[in-house]
Amino acid sequence: MARIFVGAAAALVTIMVGGWAVATTGEPDRTAQLAEYRRPNAIPFPEDNPYAAQKAELGRALFFEPILSRDGDRTCATCHVPGQDWTDSTPLAPRNDGGFMDVRTPTLLNIAWIEDILGWDGKFRGLEAVARTPLTAPGNMNMPPEEMVRRLSADPAYVEAFAGAFPEPVAGGNPITQERIEQALATFQRLIVSGEAPFDRWVEGDARAVSGAARRGFDLFHGKANCAACHSGWNFTDGSFHDIGVAKDGNVGRGRFFPGSTALRFAFKTPTLRNVARRPPYMHDGSLATLAEVVELYDRGGIDRPSRSRDIRPLRLSEREKADLIAFLETLSDAGSAEAATLPITATPPRP
Ligand code: HEC
Ligand code: HEC
Repeated sequence: MARIFVGAAAALVTIMVGGWAVATTGEPDRTAQLAEYRRPNAIPFPEDNPYAAQKAELGRALFFEPILSRDGDRTCATCHVPGQDWTDSTPLAPRNDGGFMDVRTPTLLNIAWIEDILGWDGKFRGLEAVARTPLTAPGNMNMPPEEMVRRLSADPAYVEAFAGAFPEPVAGGNPITQERIEQALATFQRLIVSGEAPFDRWVEGDARAVSGAARRGFDLFHGKANCAACHSGWNFTDGSFHDIGVAKDGNVGRGRFFPGSTALRFAFKTPTLRNVARRPPYMHDGSLATLAEVVELYDRGGIDRPSRSRDIRPLRLSEREKADLIAFLETLSDAGSAEAATLPITATPPRP
């Protein structure tokens, strides 16, 4: 999908800033590595669903709208909880019949940067296309699309909101369509961006923003522990799929769609590490309860099998190194206000 970066065209150009060498005399020069993590200052929006304030506001209303579930008992926020970093705290997402799905609810933080292939196993094509699944799935919101359009159309406030958000006239005259519901939801979700964390202040030149342990943890992350091989860039993900040796149940992840591929068997999407310390449990199956357990898994090298990524191997970290790695991960959390987290980066409409 073609993408445009709204706002400054130079948004993603990294600029090096000096300064922390002063506060960290005797430590390695990390200028080049840190520059790889500089925050962008604009949110990317696709050309076929550009940003508009009214559309985003409509999407916000729909995200929290219970009438979009057949029984009126669920919204997107039932599982993607704003105050819990847009995920929930359960290992597996709750079905509407008291049971559980086979995967955990992923966070929606920085979803605008994970545009093309979404879902733990990559089952979704583009952010607009995702909503249809939770909305219609019988075990989730269980809403037939026609019924959804009918319910919204019965509310004059929604008719007006859709007409304002999508000014182009439609055949038949009803401004509410399933496609527009999906576009509005996606526009709102692209505004869900993690706020500035202590790590970002370090990247901007203030070495005192993080502890010495965290700075050593960063060196491990980038060096001996090899985490940056997959958790790369400011959002700490390569947007790709790997077997890190975690899944032991029947879920083969991305391998479902590529049965002939060894590398994609048990491969799941690399999650962002933004705010990660605050949103346990971890992994696609919620199988690890703490960051300490995550670090132990990587230290062991996970399950050794043909599909396991070549970037995963036993690390043999010392106890101090494990603690340093966790100290580093903790510096990736923002101040934690759900409201602030939705709009820390200015989205401006594209120039005509
Ligand atoms: C029952 C809890 C639940 C509800 C309600 C729910 N989701 Fe999700 N959401 C999930 C789970 C679980 C996944 C992962 C699915 C997968 O990968 O197979 C997911 C995945 C996603 C993703 C992809 C994230 C990524 O990183 O790839 C997006 C976007 C999303 N949901 C948006 C929504 C929207 C919009 C709604 C409301 C229309 C919604 N969700 C309702 C549980 C839920
Ligand atoms: C080969 C690529 C790769 C490497 C190297 C890697 N990771 Fe991961 N990481 C992933 C994938 C893929 C997942 C999701 C796996 C799953 O859900 O089954 C993940 C999950 C995580 C999670 C859980 C996040 C969440 O929201 O559930 C944390 C924390 C994490 N990794 C930290 C690290 C650290 C620390 C290192 C270095 C010791 C590291 N990773 C090395 C690919 C990688």
